[in-house]
Amino acid sequence: MSEFKPLVFSGVQPTGNLHLGNYLGAIRKFVALQEKNDCMYCVVDLHALTAQLVHEDMIGQIRSITAAFLAAGIDPKQHIVFNQSQVPQHAELAWIFNCVARIGWMNRMTQFKDKAGKDREQASLGLYAYPSLMAADILVYRATHVPVGEDQKQHLELTRDIAMKFNMDFMEKIRPTGLGIDITVGDEPVHAYFPMVEPLIDGPAPRVMSLKDGSKKMSKSDPSDLSRINLMDDSDAISKKIRKAKTDPDALPSEVDGLKGRPEADNLVGIFAALADKTKADVLAEFGGQQFSVFKPALVDLAVEVLAPINAEMRRLMDDPGHIDAVLRDGGERARARAEKTMTEVRDIIGFVR
Ligand code: TYM
Repeated sequence: MSEFKPLVFSGVQPTGNLHLGNYLGAIRKFVALQEKNDCMYCVVDLHALTAQLVHEDMIGQIRSITAAFLAAGIDPKQHIVFNQSQVPQHAELAWIFNCVARIGWMNRMTQFKDKAGKDREQASLGLYAYPSLMAADILVYRATHVPVGEDQKQHLELTRDIAMKFNMDFMEKIRPTGLGIDITVGDEPVHAYFPMVEPLIDGPAPRVMSLKDGSKKMSKSDPSDLSRINLMDDSDAISKKIRKAKTDPDALPSEVDGLKGRPEADNLVGIFAALADKTKADVLAEFGGQQFSVFKPALVDLAVEVLAPINAEMRRLMDDPGHIDAVLRDGGERARARAEKTMTEVRDIIGFVR
């Protein structure tokens, strides 16, 4: 039986500074995956309009995310790095998915509820339809694997629902085109055009928490800059933020179970593990029984060792916007060719005249 060729796809919004959560939950995984996979990494500028329409420095934000991708080690020649608006097929497929997805599905999206806040009537229609565009980003390449942080899990489940409904609704139209592939969903054989994407969320830091409050996600929108480490922070800022990070008075446990009910300790151990490419158990084997006065300086050293070269390379790249734009243009061109192939097939499956 033929299979979908593995393809990794992920996206990052050009809104605000990237922080350690974006790096450990997403970008660091992007870098690791490129060794063995065909990968596409996208700066999702169309998504950036959903929460705020007018951006003071949209171009600068797009370049800065691209610089972070490259500085972290993504190879734009071997893989594809581009910005979403260069490939209009994303928006075209999103429209079709708006007609596939059900309003009831969208109503369950917790991110919409969080971002829309109390005055939902005033949220943009784009914010509501956001997950449909996200599904289109992935499926316009028929991508199979999506590395993301845990906060994107629900959106990826919706992507699977959209793919499944399209496959089911158009099953009889897909078959004669010969474009479909037989897949198994649960125990059921399905003749599918779109794959069931696999989220890649695992790792020691799928949800990096605020340094000030272990119950809140580290986020670009937190008013306190001390709550997050930004990728553009220098060594002094990193050191200050880790030293001031909230902790409890106890020593670190020797077993992972001992982190239960200690969200701040759990978070710092997870960050250490992710930065060191270790497990939390490895970190506790080394630091179990130690006080934070010992652990925090070790975490500062590690964070600076990992982040300083990325920070320096980002700054170097940002001084050469022409190079960044050329990378995006080249990636955009290659992405467009792939996306157009899918859209030609989708238009045929639906039955549009061409
Ligand atoms: P965005 O731009 O908010 O975040 C980019 C990536 O960073 C991850 N992330 C975190 N991971 C761990 N801990 C945190 N505190 C943390 N904060 C953010 C996010 O999970 C994400 O992986 N909807 C997406 C962008 C998107 C996308 C896509 C992703 C659009 N289309 C298609 C994958 C595939 C978003 O807003 O990510």
